[in-house]
Amino acid sequence: MAPMCPEEVDVFTVPHSRMKELVCKYLDLLTSTNFSNVGHVTYLLESLIKTFHEFIAHEQIENQFIMKRLKNKLRSLSIQNTAVCNCHKDNRLTDMLKFLQDGYKRTKKSDVDHINYGIQLRQALEEFTETFLPHMAEEEEVFQPLLMQHFTVDELKQLKATVIQQHFKA
Ligand code: FEO
Repeated sequence: MAPMCPEEVDVFTVPHSRMKELVCKYLDLLTSTNFSNVGHVTYLLESLIKTFHEFIAHEQIENQFIMKRLKNKLRSLSIQNTAVCNCHKDNRLTDMLKFLQDGYKRTKKSDVDHINYGIQLRQALEEFTETFLPHMAEEEEVFQPLLMQHFTVDELKQLKATVIQQHFKA
């Protein structure tokens, strides 16, 4: 469970609520999709592609506005923190997006065994979700306290406003 963080300086919870809502939506959609129906599979993939574009935009906003500042601050204090440096180093979002886009193209060409693709898709999404939810928890439980330790309340209020504004623009 995340330590208590005053709402006014909490830069992660609002965008993460949206990301978690998207996770719940795709898990529901996955359950209700009939993989022997091309229309269902196409709809699911279109929805997932939009979702992963939103996840990628979220990660880019965090990199640009939160992680970069936090890394710079820690570096200026000669503090090593590999978790902060590596938190978005993997390619899991772009790999998932590529997998979805490939599946979508093949579905459009009727060049895909939908049932088998459905099994692979379900497995890929479950594996992704198993890392994405803890990743967000780490940001809330580890990086938020670090931000609070190294930035002023006013700086964090401004940072939160920027982060939320950027998510609305994305
Ligand atoms: Fe908030 Fe890095 O996902």
